[in-house]
Amino acid sequence: MNHFEVREGELWCEDVALSRIAREVGTPVYVYSSATLERHYQVLHDAIAGRPELGEPLIAFAVKANSNVSVLKTLGRLGAGADTVSEGEIRRALAAGIPPDRIVFSGVGKTARELAFALDVGVAEINLESEPEMALVSEIARQKGLRATVAIRINPNVGAGGHAKITTGKAEDKFGVSISEAERLYAQAANNAGLKPVGVACHIGSQITDLAPMEAAFKLMRGVVERLRGEGLSVERLDLGGGLGVPYFHQPDPPSPEDYAAMLSRTVGGLGVQLAFEPGRMIVANAGVLVSEVVHVNARPDGRRFLVLDAAMNDLIRPAMYDAYHDIRPVRTREGEAVVYDVVGPVCETGDTFTRDRALPPLQGGDLVAFMTAGAYGAVMASEYNTRPLVPEVLVRGGDYAVIRPRPTYDEILAREPLAPWL
Ligand code: LLP
Repeated sequence: MNHFEVREGELWCEDVALSRIAREVGTPVYVYSSATLERHYQVLHDAIAGRPELGEPLIAFAVKANSNVSVLKTLGRLGAGADTVSEGEIRRALAAGIPPDRIVFSGVGKTARELAFALDVGVAEINLESEPEMALVSEIARQKGLRATVAIRINPNVGAGGHAKITTGKAEDKFGVSISEAERLYAQAANNAGLKPVGVACHIGSQITDLAPMEAAFKLMRGVVERLRGEGLSVERLDLGGGLGVPYFHQPDPPSPEDYAAMLSRTVGGLGVQLAFEPGRMIVANAGVLVSEVVHVNARPDGRRFLVLDAAMNDLIRPAMYDAYHDIRPVRTREGEAVVYDVVGPVCETGDTFTRDRALPPLQGGDLVAFMTAGAYGAVMASEYNTRPLVPEVLVRGGDYAVIRPRPTYDEILAREPLAPWL
């Protein structure tokens, strides 16, 4: 459920018409709904916390999905933590008021500088992805006279389908260590003066809409916890990675948070660990849209019609990068029969095609369209390719809205580039 609805023939976000934001802020622009963000967090939290066998979870929002500080603060105020993969993301989470003891630091290539920063800040858990990384963390922690709180990230070798560019849980993927390696490293870490292993972590991929691969992976994770405990090692936390996929349209509805929680009860219920989760997309995808204006319709003599927008692949790269499907809706519906368009942006690459042969209501220059389900991996993956100013972001709350990342001016863009002194 989300808070983007048609009222009197127009698309609104909560109590603000998208056409008003387009007029006042300009296009292209990302628009997020506070109510949807809050609802998605709360529904997931309540589904898990409502089951005593699962206990109070740490829901660490995957900052990579949407790192805007206002978005993080909206979630942080409800109790969300942050799953981070860089010093920059840790700094964003802290700036949003998320306490360090709710911040998880993941990623395959954390640098010494980033690890030192995470240790100084006192993050809840550093997820170790390899043996060399474990050695590095231990060395830095010992230099500081600290014991780093760590979890070992396991690659459970479970295929979860989905796009090859976003699976993470197969043996050939770069993430984590095998189960047997993890058990060996955990025991080693427990005897290392610079490390305090508190748990194990896994993440098998993103946009997973089937519970079966998660269920298989989580059963394996339960086995790991039980075996480690059998060896007398303490395991306090089990981090189960990212969230469920979301329906982008034309797709069956993914399992509900209740189904997900029931699966958790079956697999990891009653283990007596704190469960941690790193959902990104399921919290924020349907809480955001990208609003764009039609520049013109280019009707070719051969009958092909290009709907040329002022948004481009640099603003929303998912279609170009993953062949992702985004529902496109007119912001104000025009009467008339559907027309088949190729929807494109102005960037000088054929890859700047959002979709081909899409039947849409008739549109003309000056009309607005909204790319739905664009709140996750949208603005965060935007660039200034073709020197198109970084797309702005707006947060709506009831009848109010705020620009939470302004569009830079051309002067600001140019001022970021000092000339080499010899020029
Ligand atoms: N935890 C870890 C360790 C991850 O690698 C990811 C996503 C997540 C959590 C969050 O997963 P989610 O709940 O959002 O599925 N740019 C791609 C998605 C890349 C996901 C990478 N890892 C896209 O636009 O589809």
